[in-house]
Amino acid sequence: MPKKDLISVGNLSPQEVEEIFLLTDKLKADAADFKSALAGKTLALIFQKPSNRTRVSFDVGMYQLGGNSVYLSPGEINLGVRESISDAAKTLSRYVDGIVLRTFEHKNVLELAKYAEVPVINGLSDFSHPCQALADIYTIREKLGALKGKTLAYVGDGNNVCNSLLYACARVSLNMNTATPKGYEPDGAVFESARATAFGCGAKLQLTHSPQEAVAGVDVIYTDVWASMGQEKEAAKREKAFKDFQVNAKLLKLAKKGALIMHCLPAHRGKEITEDVIDGKNSVVFDQAENRLHVQKAVLIKLLGNRNGR
Ligand code: CP
Repeated sequence: MPKKDLISVGNLSPQEVEEIFLLTDKLKADAADFKSALAGKTLALIFQKPSNRTRVSFDVGMYQLGGNSVYLSPGEINLGVRESISDAAKTLSRYVDGIVLRTFEHKNVLELAKYAEVPVINGLSDFSHPCQALADIYTIREKLGALKGKTLAYVGDGNNVCNSLLYACARVSLNMNTATPKGYEPDGAVFESARATAFGCGAKLQLTHSPQEAVAGVDVIYTDVWASMGQEKEAAKREKAFKDFQVNAKLLKLAKKGALIMHCLPAHRGKEITEDVIDGKNSVVFDQAENRLHVQKAVLIKLLGNRNGR
């Protein structure tokens, strides 16, 4: 059986997403049942960017499943500089059972997956953040139950998280309104592909430049930082472009009463979201963060669990 990677939610079918969520339900209900699920397996964590949630949740997740992980900082592997991505992929495949890569350019994930003989998981690239979006949708499913007919409004930068949420919402029949400033829209091909999937699943994806229009009557409001890692030099320009896209109490009033507030974290309080909103009673940001652990454990079991060593 060919190895399976997790590069983008766009590569998953609606059924595969549901299977990950059903396994996550079981993992959350009785973690002890899975304490040897990945016994003897090792996961390499190649991180070219900083991380709290992604690194710690994969590390702890492997431990809880009976396996272990090896963290490789930017200075250690120096992917593509000290040695080619293909050589690193082939070498690591002789030692470990799976690889998580957090990198700047999405093409690095694709190249690693092409040459690795073990499953590769995208731990964030400039194009997508699949583990985040899966944990986010799982969190909404936990809080709101059935997703069909519900709507998520994404307010902010049409970045990697937004791309992955578009793919994910389409696959679970959750409507998604995306509000970005002009010039900061999500990837056009992602939007069109996700919209076609959503249409087939009975959901609707819409783009606007008005945060007020996007959040009117919605069940969930989601935002992310205005300048992602690697865009620090653009921070001043972006602050100007995004100044009307802050998630604050005034904007929240336009959503459904009790609408969930989501953020993938880390957050810049007072910029994309105000302190009172992120710390308010509707905020589920730490449930999202916790669910990174549970959903990724399900992904790890699915990808690494049925493979017989190297
Ligand atoms: N949301 C997220 O990926 O967090 P980290 O950057 O801390 O991993």
